[in-house]
Amino acid sequence: MRQEFLPFSTPTIEDDEINEVVDSLKSGWITTGPKVKRFEDAFKAYVGAPYAVPLSSATAGLHLALLALQLKEGDEVITTPMTFASTVSMIILCGATPVLVDIEPGTLNIDAGKIREKITAKTKAVVPVHFAGQPCDMDAIFALAKEFNLTVIEDAAHAAGTEYKGKRIGSFDTISIFSFHPNKNITTGEGGMLCTTDEALAEEVSLLKFHGMSREAWKRFSATGNPNYEILLPGFKYNMMDIQAALGIHQLPKLDGFIAKRTEIAEFYNAAFADVAELARPSYAPYDQRHAWHLYTPLIRIERLTIDRDQFMAELKKLNIGTGLHYKAIHHHPYYRDTLQIPAGAFPNADYASDRILSLPLFPKMTMDDARDVVEAVKTVIAKNRK
Ligand SMILES: Cc1ncc(COP(=O)(O)O)c(C=O)c1O
Repeated sequence: MRQEFLPFSTPTIEDDEINEVVDSLKSGWITTGPKVKRFEDAFKAYVGAPYAVPLSSATAGLHLALLALQLKEGDEVITTPMTFASTVSMIILCGATPVLVDIEPGTLNIDAGKIREKITAKTKAVVPVHFAGQPCDMDAIFALAKEFNLTVIEDAAHAAGTEYKGKRIGSFDTISIFSFHPNKNITTGEGGMLCTTDEALAEEVSLLKFHGMSREAWKRFSATGNPNYEILLPGFKYNMMDIQAALGIHQLPKLDGFIAKRTEIAEFYNAAFADVAELARPSYAPYDQRHAWHLYTPLIRIERLTIDRDQFMAELKKLNIGTGLHYKAIHHHPYYRDTLQIPAGAFPNADYASDRILSLPLFPKMTMDDARDVVEAVKTVIAKNRK
């Protein structure tokens, strides 16, 4: 058995990130400033977006993008049940009703073929989530958006570096929102980026992210700045700080290397679990794409075992293997179950995945020995608890 606990994820922070943060701390300018601008420009260039707005989190980005739609009570926004709470909570907090569409059983992405039947006269937007870093079927989603005049807001929290048919997520003619939480493919501690092709939207989000203020602080307080400012609309405090961007500036050039390492481990897992009937491996979508492998999320076939998924995770922990849970389906949480009043069995694929999914360790600093320990532990737990 492994001697040290292997967490399911840990960020890769090296001397260049640390030195850049120290430089910010010593510089006298630690909040939003020139390093945020540098990170914004670098990220924009990487994904191929004309406009990008750095933020304190992806949740903030979802909030502002949905607010910009000026949703009214009764308006509907379509999304997936296989996501983090904030995707759905931001729809609710903007006054609209989330309408869930079941997922595909293999990729766990929203089933684009089932969206049409959920579109009504009240539908205003679709929020696809690129689950685990694998792109949704965007051609199908864009075709529906065009037909029904819907806005597409891509929840790209998992998708920094993801590509769909040769184009990076972030470059499409829409709005996409990335997360730089420490588990994500690159991190700024906490942080997010909203990318868009819409200049007016980028301007509005930029205002909303910082009190609706006409001029950001670093432009007011620099040697050549003017301390005066005007409030153009009531806004939030969702800005990214320079000490966060200091991390991002050095993480971004490493992203492709991080993805290569994640892919190597994911493919190792896929090969190692090929003959394990008690586990269903995540599958690749059939179209041309680059999976960013933010998560490796097999489904444990609990019907073949004497233990459930939570017990499976507890057994792995006893063997010093950490796991994550991405996700218990949205409608399995008490708040959404009660408010959305989803009838039992409405989302069979999400229900199935929700009870069986777990995230195995996957991060660039992992060694192949670590990955072998994970495979061995998974096989040990299965062998011990097979029906
Ligand atoms: C699918 C999805 N959407 C949104 C978020 C929110 O990201 P953040 O933590 O940056 O607010 C997350 C975070 O885990 C996520 O996984």
